[in-house]
Amino acid sequence: MSDALVKVENLTRTFDVSMPWLNRVIERQERQFLRAVDDVSFEIRRGETFALVGESGSGKSTIAKMVVGLLPASSGRIFFDGTQMDLSSSAVMGSLRSRFQMIFQSPYASLNPRWRVRDVIAEPMKAFGTFDSGAGIDRRVDELLDLVGLGASDASKYPHEFSGGQRQRIAIARALSSNPEFIVCDEPTSALDVSVQAQILNLMRDLQDELGLTYLFISHDLSVVRHMANRIGVLYLGALVETADGKELFRNPRHPYTRMLLEAVPDLEMTGKKHEAVKGEIPNPISPPSGCTFHPRCPYRFERCPNEVPRPVPTPTGEAKCFAVEEGRI
Ligand SMILES: Nc1ncnc2c1ncn2[C@@H]1O[C@H](COP(=O)(O)OP(=O)(O)O)[C@@H](O)[C@H]1O
Ligand SMILES: [Mg+2]
Repeated sequence: MSDALVKVENLTRTFDVSMPWLNRVIERQERQFLRAVDDVSFEIRRGETFALVGESGSGKSTIAKMVVGLLPASSGRIFFDGTQMDLSSSAVMGSLRSRFQMIFQSPYASLNPRWRVRDVIAEPMKAFGTFDSGAGIDRRVDELLDLVGLGASDASKYPHEFSGGQRQRIAIARALSSNPEFIVCDEPTSALDVSVQAQILNLMRDLQDELGLTYLFISHDLSVVRHMANRIGVLYLGALVETADGKELFRNPRHPYTRMLLEAVPDLEMTGKKHEAVKGEIPNPISPPSGCTFHPRCPYRFERCPNEVPRPVPTPTGEAKCFAVEEGRI
């Protein structure tokens, strides 16, 4: 038996990116589909953080939206605490919705500028009927502001009166207001300055310990993920190419793409080692490369790579999809 709170099985999402019908007929074009998420599976244990990393366009936000039920999957299944998510069932979604929340990248876009902070934070409580008396809501808002390091007097201000970091604190308080167990954090600090980033990440870790929260933490930045994740999944063109325990991924990356991402991480130990930039361009996801989709950028590619699709092979703490790893070449 696994004690997974969240379980994602073979999740796939395609988007129809065809031109309008008339243009297609005139230009004799086929319909075009983009596979933004390709057969992704992972589990998140209660109280843990699972991180998804990948370059822009690798499918991170699409996965996040499916996991919280904002976007239907094309295929695959998502389980929350043993219950399969079913967007067409209001009974199922009604019982699940208050148990998870999402924090977005931009605290500017996600907070309604016309509402006072009190109403922004209280909105999920009201939506889920967690509190019914006005006084109860006000007390809870004060508690939440305190929890995220803001003051009770901030409740009557508007979002524009706060800095970026403070706004993200408000977004966190709002996400916590319905007492969720699971929070999906989609690049929660990438719009912030580095010093502010660290404060918000620390706050998120403290809240996790204090409240027993489970996180799906999404970032394009491995150096951020390093401080947050128990387990890490590396995404490339919508597919998970490697999954491993957090420490192990940094100590012993297996997949060539993970190695490339790690080489590009700024030198944290200040050893003076020069880091290399990530090489090559991400291919067009509408017509991805054959075989292993990473092969055009891969320094370890050989005959099999453009011709066959790699299956996951076990690694010390997870798995990797790579023929060079499978054959023990690297
Ligand atoms: N609504 C949509 N319609 C068409 N293509 C989309 C849509 N949403 C995302 N995509 C495409 O899916 C891919 C993954 O996008 P996204 O999940 O936003 O990636 P990330 O968050 O990792 O940057 C990209 O190629 C993006 O252009
Ligand atoms: Mg995104």
